[in-house]
Amino acid sequence: MNTTNLTQPKLPNDIPGAIRAMKQEWRQSIGDVQAVFDEITDFIAREIEDIEQAKANGESVWPVIDYQDIAAGSVSPAQIDAIHRRGCAVVKGHFARDTALAWDRSLVEYVERNDFDNQYRGPGDNFFGTLTASRPEIYPIYWSAPQMEARQSDRMASVQSFLNQLWKFESAGKVWFDPDKNCLYPDRVRRRPPGTTSNGLGAHTDSGALERWLLPAYNQVFRHLIAGNFDAYDPWDAAYRTDVHEYEGGTTLCSAFRTFQGWTALSDMQRDQGVLFTVPIPAAMAYILLRPLLNDVAEDDLCGVTPRLVLPIDEKWHSLLLRGKTLIPDVQAGDSIWWHSDLIHGVEGVTNQQGWGNVMYIPATPACEKNIHYAASCASRFERGESPDDFPSEHYEVEWRGRFTSRQLNTRGRQSLFLDVSSPERQQ
Ligand SMILES: [Fe+2]
Repeated sequence: MNTTNLTQPKLPNDIPGAIRAMKQEWRQSIGDVQAVFDEITDFIAREIEDIEQAKANGESVWPVIDYQDIAAGSVSPAQIDAIHRRGCAVVKGHFARDTALAWDRSLVEYVERNDFDNQYRGPGDNFFGTLTASRPEIYPIYWSAPQMEARQSDRMASVQSFLNQLWKFESAGKVWFDPDKNCLYPDRVRRRPPGTTSNGLGAHTDSGALERWLLPAYNQVFRHLIAGNFDAYDPWDAAYRTDVHEYEGGTTLCSAFRTFQGWTALSDMQRDQGVLFTVPIPAAMAYILLRPLLNDVAEDDLCGVTPRLVLPIDEKWHSLLLRGKTLIPDVQAGDSIWWHSDLIHGVEGVTNQQGWGNVMYIPATPACEKNIHYAASCASRFERGESPDDFPSEHYEVEWRGRFTSRQLNTRGRQSLFLDVSSPERQQ
């Protein structure tokens, strides 16, 4: 396991100055920036043509993997190549549809039993949608039985291990994470009712914005790009990624390294009903990083990046990338959706949505020092029913009846929170 400095960095005092200095350094290191950028653009353009061709042929751009194949270790090399190429995947039948539908009902019972409608004080942050319903679209609920049952299940563990193994986790002389051990990363649920009209969520990437250019650890992650060597850049090499600590104070901050962000469907969803899309090209991050170095971008600008907000992908600077936008295929309750932590993604808008759009966010967060540190901090939040540190301090569930308790943790659940695994009778 590598050792990292767990101190969260502060934003530079002079951000424009830091951006100008970075651009000078990178240009010197890259050499002919336009030539490298052209090489990246050619690669992306070929990938987009392939995506467009697949769509024209009626093929699924998103690799679709059957859970049984993951459990049996029989996912084909061609399917693995497809996930490496596209950076995302659907796991069909990850959980039985009936199980997922029962979880959805159980979540409703949990919030109703605890009078959430009257307790709800409005959004604790402004990151997600802008619906003004009495209930939010994103529920700031972390410790329900369905969420914890899914998180500590063998089925979740086998998919997380499979996905973690797609990364090169031993490189540059270090083991960057343990793919077979998961750290709990509690996140929220989304329940979007029929009839919803929503603008969706614009294309963006998670896991840091300004950070990707200014943090020394990210400079190491992208060292080959900064050396002007696009061929050597491997989006699946975990080297130095677990050393990244995002700037403090952002509403979008994620304290964990996620090999894949993900969610598990709690309702059937049709692809034309305001669902998730990605730009399924992991190396598109190379384009995003180098685009601001070209001469048509102000010297202190990073194509619209704003401190403490997600990294925006827009038509003005990234129109080529946005041509690759690809919606998930239709999913059933119990299927799960996964995307690489660099992947551009967003949520398509919808008018008068048909059917529910319900998900539990559960990522793949393998054991490394950074993730262990955060999961251990979540253990005390869990025991008190409080909101985890990466989220607004809303703490709705503290007094709630029916909250999942430490007595209900199985061995895997205790391990993922770094609680003492030898004392299953531990009381709350
Ligand atoms: Fe996101």
